[in-house]
Amino acid sequence: MTRTDTHPDGSSPTEDEVREALRNVRDPELGADIVELGMVTRIHVDGAEVAVEVALTIAGCPLRAQIQRDVDLHVGALPGVRSVVVTTGVMGPDQKRSVMDRARRIARDDPSATDVPDTARVVAVASGKGGVGKSSVTVNLAVALARRGLTVGVLDADIWGFSVPRLLGMQGDVEARGKKMVPLERHVGDGTLRVLSMGFLADEDQAIMWRGLILNRAVQQFLEDVHWGDLDFLLIDMPPGTGDIQMGLARMMPRTEVLIVTTPPEAAQKVAARTADMARKGYLQVTGVIENMSDFICEHGTSYALFGSGGGDRLAADIGVPLLGRVPLHPSVSAGGDAGAPVALDDDQPLAAEFARIAEALVANPPATGSMEGCSARMLERVEAAVAAGEPV
Ligand SMILES: Nc1ncnc2c1ncn2[C@@H]1O[C@H](COP(=O)(O)OP(=O)(O)O)[C@@H](O)[C@H]1O
Ligand SMILES: [Mg+2]
Repeated sequence: MTRTDTHPDGSSPTEDEVREALRNVRDPELGADIVELGMVTRIHVDGAEVAVEVALTIAGCPLRAQIQRDVDLHVGALPGVRSVVVTTGVMGPDQKRSVMDRARRIARDDPSATDVPDTARVVAVASGKGGVGKSSVTVNLAVALARRGLTVGVLDADIWGFSVPRLLGMQGDVEARGKKMVPLERHVGDGTLRVLSMGFLADEDQAIMWRGLILNRAVQQFLEDVHWGDLDFLLIDMPPGTGDIQMGLARMMPRTEVLIVTTPPEAAQKVAARTADMARKGYLQVTGVIENMSDFICEHGTSYALFGSGGGDRLAADIGVPLLGRVPLHPSVSAGGDAGAPVALDDDQPLAAEFARIAEALVANPPATGSMEGCSARMLERVEAAVAAGEPV
């Protein structure tokens, strides 16, 4: 672009001034400016003409035009600059590694602005398909954790098919504190549940606005614009088929763990295995498997493996994570759900003890330390690959 304005005293900018201007150009994928990332490989000032070379991580990067435009805009705005020539190159493997290292460091020092405390474990409860009991497991596990005296956030990320308010017998309108929504609270034993669901956004306009957001964006909003306060756990009841949400979570909160709910039938195993695979591709760690609707125990205490047995074991072994528990098929689960009184609250029901055991196993199985770094590293590579392949990220 050619400009006619000149520096008041006719002088040209220094290289440092150009570099400073380039700090306004961010690589939106890597989340930092191109100077900080070491992507600026050459600055040349010749009178009123400035040449800048930017090295991109991949050839044909769809962000190239945007980065070029931003460089032109910010450098061109410097007094005394008449023309800006922006060229792009592609990084060699070493340079790429060092840029990724830097991006990783920056991401670690400056995580995105969620209101979820760093100390809270974030657990996404996922399954390949609906109807396997994901929401039932989420609320009962949340209750069992709260009964241990913990503060547990429950995010109902099933925007279209939300069921958490009904299962917990909670209703009401979410209020705003400052600019943030305040989750609804329910005290359980010595602990507290803080719950957020589309079901609490009574305001029709608000609800329509939320439904208009793409799913991933809606979940991001739920994480960023909600006053979660101090939490020990945040359980996320994931909608089915959530590759993009998992990617979003990986980028926003790389420490998110995935808990896979499966049922014994082989078909469900395959879907659940695919979910695990998806979680891994999104670079979230899988913490464990819960087998739901396993044996049916009749009133005489005889157990029937209606859907076959060992499915959860097999899946857990296949993906190399612990089987955290097996929840039998029992009418108390659906009855508790219908009554808004999760079975995990009722010590007269044998399933309360099972959910207590699962909660204990979850607490006892924190994610492996140090794996977070690996996660975000692979995550960035995945983002990069997706961008290269022209997929939406
Ligand atoms: N262990 C169980 N025993 C009996 N019924 C169950 C059990 N788990 C879930 N259900 C019932 O199965 C149905 C689907 O469960 P839900 O938690 O809504 O699944 P998802 O969230 O995966 O779609 C509900 O009617 C629920 O009450
Ligand atoms: Mg559900």
